[in-house]
Amino acid sequence: MSSMPHEILIGVTGGIAAYKTAAVVSRLVQNGHGVSVVITRHARQFVGPVTFEALTGRPVFCELFSHSQPLGPHIDLAQRADVCCIAPATANILGKAASGIADDLVSTLILAFTGPLLFAPAMHCHMWNKPAVQRNLATLTKDGYQIIQPEEGWLSCRHRGMGRMASPERIVAAIEETFNGPR
Ligand SMILES: Cc1cc2nc3c(=O)[nH]c(=O)nc-3n(C[C@H](O)[C@H](O)[C@H](O)COP(=O)(O)O)c2cc1C
Repeated sequence: MSSMPHEILIGVTGGIAAYKTAAVVSRLVQNGHGVSVVITRHARQFVGPVTFEALTGRPVFCELFSHSQPLGPHIDLAQRADVCCIAPATANILGKAASGIADDLVSTLILAFTGPLLFAPAMHCHMWNKPAVQRNLATLTKDGYQIIQPEEGWLSCRHRGMGRMASPERIVAAIEETFNGPR
């Protein structure tokens, strides 16, 4: 255990780096934290909910409308968590969060959650370099969100460039670092 146990919310969006988020979740659980995972429909194309359910020992949430949570899972989950991290964060979720769009569970949660919220972007270097993406990142930073900067290196599209998601170790460290700051 590397820090006091906390409640952590992980949002997974639809990028190939979603497989690395399984390592992030596993490490956080091994560090003694309670971890809940919320996943977009597109993210389910990359990693199945079963992987995260087995790693966390909890159900994984994807849909906004749930009979078992009549107030909406975004409210329940947001109230319980100490910190939220979106990893990988697609260009799409960065744009939605920068504009206040809430059209699925992950984007609605981002608006409903009031604690420290981190984004770990991951995308092709051409997407990363687009003015719209950089503008959205600047807006999110100005709005008080923390961006875990991606790295330069091998990208799944067989290019080298900027946009590779930060390593699981860096993401875990950034999440646990928020426990030392003010809420
Ligand atoms: C094979 C494949 C890999 C993708 N990888 C990424 C990625 O790394 N980053 C990204 O921003 N979008 C990526 N996309 C595009 C997103 O999946 C797409 O923009 C989607 O609408 C994102 O939805 P979400 O943010 O709701 O999960 C990829 C798409 C495919 C088909």
